[in-house]
Amino acid sequence: MSFPETPGSSFNLLTGQCKRMEIQMPLFKWYKKYSVSNKELDEHHKTLFDIFNRLYDNCLAHDKAHCIDPIIDELKAYSSYHFTAEEQHMRTKGYQEIDKHISAHRGFTQRTLHLQQVAGKDEPEATRELIAFLGNWLLHHVIEEDKKYTV
Ligand SMILES: [Fe+2]
Repeated sequence: MSFPETPGSSFNLLTGQCKRMEIQMPLFKWYKKYSVSNKELDEHHKTLFDIFNRLYDNCLAHDKAHCIDPIIDELKAYSSYHFTAEEQHMRTKGYQEIDKHISAHRGFTQRTLHLQQVAGKDEPEATRELIAFLGNWLLHHVIEEDKKYTV
């Protein structure tokens, strides 16, 4: 399975492996149709895509867990900041599915921590699994789950 809307590459969401078709194109690109009708949160989502793109580029270049660790830490810190803002936005809007959404955020954080620990043992397979999980989750969450609170 590959994601059709990544302009510079085909990203295999099952393996985390990617074939670049053109150099210097971002793997994940934010489109206006992904908007959650909130400027601040849209900017957060763009930043999360940017961090993930850097993570992927680094992983392609090195394929070693210690090379991506600082970017994973950055992604964890930024996603935590973003989730707090997004959850506050959902509270303000009175979004009914907020508990389910918050638990998806918590699940992401826990799984990322776990996979990072395994990848930290310098297992290339675990590093790829981590990248695949992060890419898959972020894309699905931003373009499908987050759209639900905009209705
Ligand atoms: Fe969310």
